[in-house]
Amino acid sequence: MTDRVTVRAPAKINLHLGVGGPRDDGFHPLETVYTSVGLYDDVVATPATAWSLSLDAAAYVDADGVPLDDSNIVAAAARALADLHGRDVVAAVRIVKGIPVAGGLAGGSADAAAALVALDRLLDLQTSDDDLLRIAADLGSDVPFALHGGHALGTGRGEVVEPLPAGDAVLWWVVVPSTSGGLSTPAVYRHYDGLAPAASPVPAPATAVVEALAAGDVHALAEALHNDLQAPAVDLRPDLGELIALGEASGALRGLVSGSGPTVVFLCAGPDEARALAGVLQEDGRSALVANGPVAGAHVVHGI
Ligand code: C5P
Repeated sequence: MTDRVTVRAPAKINLHLGVGGPRDDGFHPLETVYTSVGLYDDVVATPATAWSLSLDAAAYVDADGVPLDDSNIVAAAARALADLHGRDVVAAVRIVKGIPVAGGLAGGSADAAAALVALDRLLDLQTSDDDLLRIAADLGSDVPFALHGGHALGTGRGEVVEPLPAGDAVLWWVVVPSTSGGLSTPAVYRHYDGLAPAASPVPAPATAVVEALAAGDVHALAEALHNDLQAPAVDLRPDLGELIALGEASGALRGLVSGSGPTVVFLCAGPDEARALAGVLQEDGRSALVANGPVAGAHVVHGI
C-alpha cells in the first residue's frame, strides 16, 4: 500500500468574469475564462485508522480562519468519495497552503480538488474522471477547474468547464494578497446585486479574452481582462482601487481584482517586468508574489 500521497493544485485567476442576474437557486450564471497560476496548495494524505485534518501555511498566508472540522471542504470531499463508493474514506490529511485564504484565488477549491485525487490514490478507489468532475461540481463552483488547470471556459455557475488551448503565451503575474482580511464571496455577489439590480440575466460574453489567448497576444489580453465583481469588491474595499492604480502606474499592463477579491493581480509583459513591479510594491510595504501560468491542474507530486 502507498504510504503517502501528495497532490498539488493551483490557484485560479478569472481573465473574464461575466456575471448575469441571480437564478432561482440564488447562484449567478457566469461566463468566465479561468486560468491557472503557479501558486499552490498541497494535500498530503497518509494511511490512518481515524480521520484527521491539519494545516501548514506559508508565511504570507493568513490561515487562522480555516476550520479543521467537518465544515472544511476537504472533509466534504472525503464524505463525497465515501458516499460514492459506499465505504469509509479515512486518512490523516495535511493541507499545506501557499494560496492566500478567502482571496478570490479559489484556494479552498484547490484543496478540494487535491483531496479528491489524493484520497482516490491513497485508498485505490479508482474513481472515474466523470465521477470526480461530478463530485467536484457539487463541492463548489470552482472545483472542477482546479482538477483541469490550464485555461478553460466556465459556464453554468462556473462548474461547467471546457478546456481552452494552452496557446503560446506564458502569462506573468504579480499577485498581491490582502493584508487586511479576506472578502466573503457571497457578500461580494450580494453587493453586486445591490449595485446592479437590473443586471442582464445573460452574462457578458468572453469572446475578446478567448481571442486574445488564441492569438497568444498578451497586450490584447491585458486590454480584454474583465471582471464584473471588481466594482462591488472595490466598493467594499476602496484600498483595492488605489492598489490597482499604483500597479498600473508602476509598469503593469493591467491590474484586476481576482474573482471576488480582495487579492489583486497584475498582468505583466514578461518575467523581468513582473519582478520589477513586485520590487516596487514590496518597497511600498506590500506582499507581492511573482507567478506564471498556465500550469497543470491537481496532480500527484509524491506517491505515484
Ligand atoms: O460554489 P461556491 O461554494 O464557490 O459558491 C460560494 C457562494 O458564492 C455561493 O453560495 C453564492 O452565494 C456565491 N456564488 C454565486 N454565483 C456563482 C458562484 C458563487 O452567487 N456562480
